[in-house]
Amino acid sequence: MKKQFIFDPEKTGENRLAQRSYYIPAADAETAKTPRTSNERYVLLNGEWDFAYFDTPLTVPCDISSVNYGDKLPVPSCWQLFGYGQLQYTNVNYQIPCLPPEVPAENPVGIYHRKFNVTGELPRTYIVFEGVCSMFEVYVNGKYVGMSKSSRNQSEFEISKFTSEGENDLAVKIYTYSDATYLEDQDCLRYNGIFRDVYLLRRPKDHIRDVKVTASADGTLSVDTDFSGRKLKTAFRLFAPDGNELPFGNVRSPLTWNAEKPNLYRLLISAGDEYISIKFGFRDVSVAEGGVLCVNGTPVKLKGVNRHDTHPTKGYAVSDDDILSELLLMKKNNINCIRTSHYPNCPYFALLCDELGFYVIEECDLELHGLEAAVRFKKDPAYLIASNPRWEKAFLDRCERMIERDKNSPSIIVWSLGNESSYGENHKKMADLCHEKDKTRLVHYESSRYYKRYHPDFEKVDDRMDIISIMYPEVSFLIRQGQNEEGETRPFFMCEYAHAMGMGPGGLEDYWDAIYKYPRLCGGCVWEWADHAICEDGKYYYGGDHGEFPHDEVFCVDGLCYPDRRPHIGLLSLKKTIQPARISLSRGKIKIRNTMDFTDLSELFVGEVYLREGETLTPLGEFVPAVAPQKEMTLDVGLPTAANERTFLEVCLAYKEDGDFFSEGEIAAWEQMELPVKLPKKAKVMPDIPVTLTENGRSITARCGALCVTFDAATGMISSLEKDGKTLLLTPAVLTAWRAPTDNDRNIQTHWNNEFVRQAKMCVTGVDTSAADNTARIRFKGFFAAPARFPIYMTEITYTVANEAVTVKLRGTKHGESVVEHLPRFGFVFKLPPTYEDLTYFAKGPLACYADMQNHARFGIFRSTVSDEYEHLIRPQECGNHIGAEFCTLSCGDSTLCVRGKSFEFSALHFSPETLTEVEHDFDLPESDGTYLSVNYKTGGLGTNSCGPKLEPKYSLNDEKIDFEFEIR
Ligand code: GAL
Ligand code: MG
Repeated sequence: MKKQFIFDPEKTGENRLAQRSYYIPAADAETAKTPRTSNERYVLLNGEWDFAYFDTPLTVPCDISSVNYGDKLPVPSCWQLFGYGQLQYTNVNYQIPCLPPEVPAENPVGIYHRKFNVTGELPRTYIVFEGVCSMFEVYVNGKYVGMSKSSRNQSEFEISKFTSEGENDLAVKIYTYSDATYLEDQDCLRYNGIFRDVYLLRRPKDHIRDVKVTASADGTLSVDTDFSGRKLKTAFRLFAPDGNELPFGNVRSPLTWNAEKPNLYRLLISAGDEYISIKFGFRDVSVAEGGVLCVNGTPVKLKGVNRHDTHPTKGYAVSDDDILSELLLMKKNNINCIRTSHYPNCPYFALLCDELGFYVIEECDLELHGLEAAVRFKKDPAYLIASNPRWEKAFLDRCERMIERDKNSPSIIVWSLGNESSYGENHKKMADLCHEKDKTRLVHYESSRYYKRYHPDFEKVDDRMDIISIMYPEVSFLIRQGQNEEGETRPFFMCEYAHAMGMGPGGLEDYWDAIYKYPRLCGGCVWEWADHAICEDGKYYYGGDHGEFPHDEVFCVDGLCYPDRRPHIGLLSLKKTIQPARISLSRGKIKIRNTMDFTDLSELFVGEVYLREGETLTPLGEFVPAVAPQKEMTLDVGLPTAANERTFLEVCLAYKEDGDFFSEGEIAAWEQMELPVKLPKKAKVMPDIPVTLTENGRSITARCGALCVTFDAATGMISSLEKDGKTLLLTPAVLTAWRAPTDNDRNIQTHWNNEFVRQAKMCVTGVDTSAADNTARIRFKGFFAAPARFPIYMTEITYTVANEAVTVKLRGTKHGESVVEHLPRFGFVFKLPPTYEDLTYFAKGPLACYADMQNHARFGIFRSTVSDEYEHLIRPQECGNHIGAEFCTLSCGDSTLCVRGKSFEFSALHFSPETLTEVEHDFDLPESDGTYLSVNYKTGGLGTNSCGPKLEPKYSLNDEKIDFEFEIR
């Protein structure tokens, strides 16, 4: 046998038609209006297809007609989710060895097959594939039609001369890997198959081929068309957003398009016997002086997220409904911008963004990240592909197909050349192509900036970029960009920031304080919208769970939503951060700043003001938030100066009426502000219940009424706690710095492990006890340290037993030799029987919060259960913390344990930090053996260090002195 497998990067397709704008032609004006409904001219081929799978191209029959199809698969779908091939998640690393453009012969091939009918008069038949991964060949009636590459671009073939009247036979042969694999190294689960719609278009001999609509905010409108076959006489009709027909031509004072008011006009084109309907918007994108990004001349902020096509059971094959519901969810959460990381989505996606109002950064289907890994990040890998002329055509092809398909979508304001692909000559040509083809949008490519990594003499980001972009900067870096001492004239954008992995992200508000402050900062997109994971029998799996190599374990689980789009707490924090108004209290007046760019707040919202004192919420009235875009108003409401309890002012903006993505009364923006009220002095309770203190070996026992507490003189800890004869603690209390590392702790965790932070505990060097005046006092001197390391803190713990309660007072001073950068947390853990389920507390809630992720929470008295306090993240980790606590009470029937303090942090969970550290999946969690009450001096912030910068010092727990006091009753 002599066989050579050639995957030629210069061959980007064969017989594939040049890309045109997306449209579905129809036989009449009415059908054209609802273009994606089946009719004899638009034949959707989705459904059950025959399927055959081969481990290597070597075993695929030469004659496609002789393939035996042993199975059926739905189209669209991903074959790995039907038991074929390998389920694999990899981030940077390629799945195959790196020698572009070669791929190994162990390259599984899937062949799809079905019949279709051709009837009627229309002479031309086209077949359109919206997404197929990876390289594929099309066969009609056993004959080769053509080939295409670039999984997330559209491929269209004319099959007229292969078909005959009546039943025809269609086969699609798909390779798992090809040279294109090197260009599609996006960080996601790696799937293959026909994963988007496939359809036939039946068309007349002569017809429109392409339509380009150019419309700017001043009302200028131009339409360019070209034809397949003869040029036809063409008629244009124009419809306003309200459906009324306008004379075709420029529109005087049009209703412009922007993400807040997505006014769409409609163009109806008729040529020959075809009608094509295209929705478009009058809108401009520009950059004003100082690098200010503007839409229709108005500065805008991009409140964005990165979005992948991902679904827990369907993989890339997300349905129209999936897309619609997630866009609506984004709208509800105040998001106005999407980066299509890292490829174009299906055409319907852009249409929906036009309709609902999003600013879209559409990204080219291009990522070469694995090359950097393969050259071990040592030299610029661009020479391999990005600066290699052999690959130029592939770059341009991908870019051109994106632009041509979506050029009529007003939502797309920026073209992105791709992601993490180094920066080479081929990128420059792509950028030139974008500029040449489209003067109405900006060009972005983040890695052009990183060119510097390999070429230190490369001073300035290439002029071809219209936006300067970076991933995961520190806030201080962002601020410097805002101050812009270099006098850069381009806007600064964070195409990725705030890695929303696991519990988190922390620190969102700080980014947005800077973005609102500096006009040059146009915003950013959180990484990322949704977790990627595979759902089998209700359980979520991630990288490595299917035995694949290489893999990147849980790094795909880094979204603001769970895979089924239930919001993570982080999404609520983002919603709050980017809410349409920033509300504050200054000198007794409420200040409301409109953060929208085109909408007066009173157009959408009604304002409401409340007072919260203890458990009572008193409405103070409603107001009309008449605030112009980007402006502010102040509101004077008589505020109390004295109260019986801490008192909070709560202001919210609620939607005035039902809309497409919200209902009347739903809250878009809110704030809670504590009022500086005078509180009555609390009378001091004198200890009047006798206390006895007994010592026996290492045990010191204090009895006071119904309370009996024993201390371990060797550990300095409470070893048992009894109330009314009931044992409350299952094991002795511990003082610990450990929390189950969050995903964003993954880097600092190495340091914590090196410093044995998990093993650090209280070490006693001295104890003294005393009892007098109905009070017992037990004082331990010592230090908090891990084996083999200097102490982290020198500590003194004083327990005072009086009035059937024990007060714990901990003082700590940082030890000068300790090298621990900052601690996960610092506090006590009390293990109660698992039956302690009911929780009442005053703190920030009702959802968990941390020093740098708390804006979604408010102070109040909350009732919860220990089971509900646990956040079922796909990979278990620290969760459930509440800050600013004054009390928390755990109860089981009539037995309770209450902790009181000034402002402590706590969590009450059915799992210990140890269990949550060890367990890898939610479904691996054991049955609970206790209720773990953590009473913390503090818990460190969450940050986003899995990909982002180190935790900001202001959120890290690294105090020189600790002064911590609480009472257990
Ligand atoms: C970025 C990359 C994303 C994703 C993220 C980590 O560098 O652009 O695709 O991999 O890191 O989750
Ligand atoms: Mg990458």
